Amino acid sequence: MTWDIRAYRGPDDATATFDVFQAAVRQTASSVYGPDQVDAWAGPARTDLSDWDSRRREASTLVAEVDDTVAGFTDLLPDGLVDMLFVHPRSGGRGVARALLTATMRDARARGLTELRTLASRSAQPTFERLGFTVVAHRPDNTIRGLVVPNVEMRRLL
Ligand SMILES: CC(C)(COP(=O)(O)OP(=O)(O)OC[C@H]1O[C@@H](n2cnc3c(N)ncnc32)[C@H](O)[C@@H]1OP(=O)(O)O)[C@@H](O)C(=O)NCCC(=O)NCCS
Repeated sequence: MTWDIRAYRGPDDATATFDVFQAAVRQTASSVYGPDQVDAWAGPARTDLSDWDSRRREASTLVAEVDDTVAGFTDLLPDGLVDMLFVHPRSGGRGVARALLTATMRDARARGLTELRTLASRSAQPTFERLGFTVVAHRPDNTIRGLVVPNVEMRRLL
């Protein structure tokens, strides 16, 4: 398997990253959240991805390509928040998230940031822990589209 980490290009990347998001939530995260929570998090199927595309561009999104196909993505907001980290289940467990977070940490240091923060799902918490993040707060009441979907706040010094 060969992979490449590169900057988000859009608009083709909008479709590819949205598909990764849907598959990661509906398949991978369904092992730790119930069907209603998964539906709330995944949200509606979208035909117009212009808002999604804008948000990915504004968030300095990094994309992982595995064998020339988009397999995952993450991002980095100016205040050090890693808002998104999703890997397609067909490429899961092979180090794609590790490669994405490692590249993000490098970019963050280059920007002069001293700490990263994330709001990690129960699915992603072990991955963030492996990459040096620690839980600073439990968020049992986190709500998405009116449904409680607990997560944790995590931080990592750079
Ligand atoms: C979380 C997610 C991004 C991980 O992607 P991935 O590419 O499968 O992760 P990696 O293969 O890079 O694993 C990274 C490290 O975490 C470890 N890890 C992953 N899941 C683990 C688990 N359940 N228990 C212990 N360690 C785990 C891996 O062993 C690996 O460590 P290593 O590199 O030292 O061997 C992916 O499962 C996903 O998209 N989940 C659903 C969506 C989600 O919750 N996104 C986060 C929103 S905040």
